[in-house]
Amino acid sequence: MQAKSVNILGIETSCDETAAAVVADGRVVKSSIVASQTKLHEKYGGVVPEIASRAHIEKIYPVIVEAIAQAGVTKDDIDAIAIANQPGLTIALVVGVTAAKTLSLMWGKPLIAINHLYAHLQSAMLTNDAIEPPAVALIVSGGHTCLYDCESPLELRLLGSTIDDAVGEAFDKVATILKLPYPGGTSIEKAAAKGNPKAIKFPRTMLGPQSLDFSFSGIKTAVLYHCRGQDMKGEDRVDSMSEKQIADIAASFQAAVIDVLVEKTRRAAERIGAKTILLGGGVAANSELRRRLKEMCETSAPPKKLLVAPKRYCTDNAVMVASLGYHKFKAGLFADLTLEPKATGL
Ligand code: KG4
Ligand code: ZN
Repeated sequence: MQAKSVNILGIETSCDETAAAVVADGRVVKSSIVASQTKLHEKYGGVVPEIASRAHIEKIYPVIVEAIAQAGVTKDDIDAIAIANQPGLTIALVVGVTAAKTLSLMWGKPLIAINHLYAHLQSAMLTNDAIEPPAVALIVSGGHTCLYDCESPLELRLLGSTIDDAVGEAFDKVATILKLPYPGGTSIEKAAAKGNPKAIKFPRTMLGPQSLDFSFSGIKTAVLYHCRGQDMKGEDRVDSMSEKQIADIAASFQAAVIDVLVEKTRRAAERIGAKTILLGGGVAANSELRRRLKEMCETSAPPKKLLVAPKRYCTDNAVMVASLGYHKFKAGLFADLTLEPKATGL
């Protein structure tokens, strides 16, 4: 007789997406609902925590109801509720955490606490979790840039992280400088596709030959100086730049950032003798980053296996939360109703 599948309801509210999903056995996506708040934050050029929190409160109930309906299940078919409770904006996280705890209590189902960053990594293992260890995982998102030694979905050791801006944050800020539409990452990628990546030599901050940490504030400032002059007293030249000039800046910025990400990942792989590289997080949706990392893996001696999150599961979603929830369910790692949101947690 076939074993009954394990259905996990995942909930995600760590930043500006209200999401819920039902995933069976860690990889069969039965539903995935994402209510994006992009339109609400657009005019501010970034996520406004108070607005995010209010929007989560409005959307959380309909999003969960829709996820369950789309999956064609009832509450009786749900085995556990997985909730991303850290890291993120506390006033955003608290909405999902409260909803998950309420359902856990009402339905009498176990609660599972999920680290949002580890969930991003899980997206890279959705279709194939046969990671051949040792494995290096690169997580690149709006709030974090981290390298991990990844033994399994539940065993991660931090190798390096950013000492200032996250890489997604740098994309977003440079898009603002270039007056490209919000959200910045996709706008930069689009503009960069028409530009020359060698047009401007922006800095590649490596922080020493052995370092596995990142720093992206320098390149952001370099782009700003390029547009406004070294003393910042010059005219903002962006308005008078041609589309080609903007594209060249975007392409040169993107190339510099990717050079750093690829080199640090290569270093980390060398350090632990990695056979597999994993890539996840919002910035992992960037085609050029995917291409360059693939190239690095293929040309390494010996070549490395690359597992990349499917594009639709790179940015925030609840499939990754439910999928990682399955592994914690199997391991018997449950939370209780004292669970709280936490802003930090690498
Ligand atoms: O993982 P995510 O959805 O949210 C956080 O956990 O932060 O990542 C969002 C970040 C944003 O900074 C966004 O600009 C960036 O991912 N991003 C991209 C692309 N798509 C999203 N950055 C570069 N290229 C993209 N195609
Ligand atoms: Zn995220």
